[in-house]
Amino acid sequence: MADNPSIQTMISLIKSKPVPQHIAIIMDGNGRWAKMHGFVRTVGHRYGVEKLKELLVTCKAIGIKYVTVYAFSTENWSRPKDEVDTLMRLIVEFINREIDNIKKEGARIRVLGDYSVLPEESRNAVEYAIAHTAENTDLHLNVALNYGGRAEIVKAVKEIAQKISSGELSLDDVGEKTVSDHLYTAGMPDPDLVIRTAGEMRLSNFLPYQSAYSEIWVSPPDVFWPDFGKEVFLRAIMDYQKRDRRFGGLSSK
Ligand code: IPE
Ligand code: IPE
Ligand code: MG
Repeated sequence: MADNPSIQTMISLIKSKPVPQHIAIIMDGNGRWAKMHGFVRTVGHRYGVEKLKELLVTCKAIGIKYVTVYAFSTENWSRPKDEVDTLMRLIVEFINREIDNIKKEGARIRVLGDYSVLPEESRNAVEYAIAHTAENTDLHLNVALNYGGRAEIVKAVKEIAQKISSGELSLDDVGEKTVSDHLYTAGMPDPDLVIRTAGEMRLSNFLPYQSAYSEIWVSPPDVFWPDFGKEVFLRAIMDYQKRDRRFGGLSSK
């Protein structure tokens, strides 16, 4: 469906200014959305998945190179088994249904997090999605799956320690870049903008190292992920473009 004129105007305005290279999104509020509509929580997750397609198309139209979405955290295993099972099943359904479109869009899928512990069917689907899109370079879609920022840092510390003890790396050479290079996001730019839907003002263990200097945009509490349309996404980017990123220095404005 073609965009309405106001969406097209917003996209043109955004493109006339520096565009964020990397946007990271905490897709929150599926459960509250479902409750509000009188559905069980898992229905909210189903509607939430649909929003992802739209998001990718918009990112491509704007020229955003990296999109990271928080799909399942290391803490989300504590939810009821039927909800976890549905989320794992939705990963498979989404990949089966959308992988050819994603490939056609030129997007490369990567997973941030330890997906080796996912149920076999989900793991196979994820591995297929990664391999099937590995040659694409237009847009990088990172899916944070069984992702936790603290676990990621622990993993990096262990790998670095191992390299020091084997002599591959010397302690004097360890710097911030060494740590970045051992995160799931190695080689990627840090997120310029972290968006969280549904109003909560926290990171919930999402990209703590990478988002040290990210701008944060939180939606109003009644904008749940399944309602996160193009207009509100573009509004978040326009707000970001008005921010003064000082990085500890002085304003350039
Ligand atoms: C986000 O929505 C999706 C996942 C965490 C998988 P929630 O399921 O957290 O929805 P709320 O926050 O309970 O409304
Ligand atoms: C963060 O949302 C995780 C994902 C969106 C996948 P949560 O709903 O799990 O976060 P909390 O529990 O509100 O901190
Ligand atoms: Mg939540």
